[in-house]
Amino acid sequence: MEFIHLIREKQQELIRLYHLEQEQKDMGVMVFRKDAHNNAQVIYYPLESIRSTYIVQRLRAMVLAMEGNNELKLENRLIITLPQFDELPEGVDVPKVMYFCIMDGPSGRLFQLIPQSTEVDGKLYYYYQMIADPDPDELEKMENEKARGVRGDTWTIGPTENGKWFKQVCLLALGNEPLFKKFRCAREFREIIGNENESYGEQIAQALEARGLDELGDIRNFKYLDEIGGPDKYYYAEIGWEMSPTTLRYMNTAFDIADSFGGEDEGIDWFEDKKIIEVGGGYGGLCSVLHQAADLREYTLVEIEPVRGLAERYLTEANVINNESTVNVVTPQGVELESDDPELESAELTQGEDWDLLISEYAFCELNQTGMEFYYRNVFPRVKNCYLGMNIWEEARKNEILARLQEFFTTVEEHKVTPEHPQWKRYIIVCKK
Ligand SMILES: C[S@@+](CC[C@H](N)C(=O)[O-])C[C@H]1O[C@@H](n2cnc3c(N)ncnc32)[C@H](O)[C@@H]1O
Repeated sequence: MEFIHLIREKQQELIRLYHLEQEQKDMGVMVFRKDAHNNAQVIYYPLESIRSTYIVQRLRAMVLAMEGNNELKLENRLIITLPQFDELPEGVDVPKVMYFCIMDGPSGRLFQLIPQSTEVDGKLYYYYQMIADPDPDELEKMENEKARGVRGDTWTIGPTENGKWFKQVCLLALGNEPLFKKFRCAREFREIIGNENESYGEQIAQALEARGLDELGDIRNFKYLDEIGGPDKYYYAEIGWEMSPTTLRYMNTAFDIADSFGGEDEGIDWFEDKKIIEVGGGYGGLCSVLHQAADLREYTLVEIEPVRGLAERYLTEANVINNESTVNVVTPQGVELESDDPELESAELTQGEDWDLLISEYAFCELNQTGMEFYYRNVFPRVKNCYLGMNIWEEARKNEILARLQEFFTTVEEHKVTPEHPQWKRYIIVCKK
């Protein structure tokens, strides 16, 4: 990273030097390395003088890819965008593609630098994008992780337009204050989370009233949860103020779970001191509702990036994550039993521990087989109870999931969703050890 800093700072000089060297010595690579005294060295090597077969092979592949269709497959590549500049260095007419190799000890990381331009107010600006292949060891690790369902998109919705836009909104909201203030009402976000309309909210509000709203503690506390992320809110007489139907759905889920696992009179008290893992917890809506309603012992929310980051931010704003809380917001890697990343603290945090309850509302059921296998292997054996919101109706697939669940639990029951969602056909699977 030290060299990246240097490249950012000295971009103009390096472009000029590269062009000069290439004109005199033909195609080659600019190598960045440290000498024996730890001083930075920048040396241009023409292609024929390079002895590293890795560099030569990668370089050839990169050049061929460029000549072929001018398209780069970006997945798993490291991309660094350099600062813009508006004047070309002296002696440079048109910025060309450059090849930089950053050495770390004997091994190197080869970057292809692609010139880009953008016009702002009639003025042309240039910038370079540095793109590196994953290094071969990393690549092997990544392939391994993909096969285990830790990496790569195992969410069936992920590659669809809806999935891509949803993740895009999460990513933007994460780093942008104005967008964070209203991400929950973004149409692209609501295609995935928050598609409950006003009248469905009314049905839920009535159900909540019948179940006894004060069981959830001081319900004024739920008001604040809807002040974060700017969801659409409606006035519900049963509640006494405006709320988002989605938060009402999560409140209803709290009752549903308590009814499914608690004793006759236990109610919401069932949650006291429980350790919970939620798979696909979205922005943290249910997690925050459960924290308002009960004193939980521990909560692990599993999400893919960038949704995980957004959940962490939402839960921090909602004061669910604070110095005293035991809430972990992790990627699937964080709950993998034998993660091969020694630096992953979260994996250590949850390793070997069991949870009282696994919740997954309409997330586990949307995973492909590799994604489901990941949770069958790493999570289901470690939980006592499980509550799954489901939308799979294809008989064979549903039966297959039920059969797998029976390997882990002694009772596996199907429950109705009440009130029924006006648009989506849904059901619940409740499992107990
Ligand atoms: C339909 S949303 C449900 C969100 C939330 N549970 C709710 O009911 O509002 C499905 C969620 O699953 C998440 N997801 C996708 N792949 C996942 C994976 N491999 N592990 C955990 N969560 C995943 C998505 O990012 C998305 O937030």
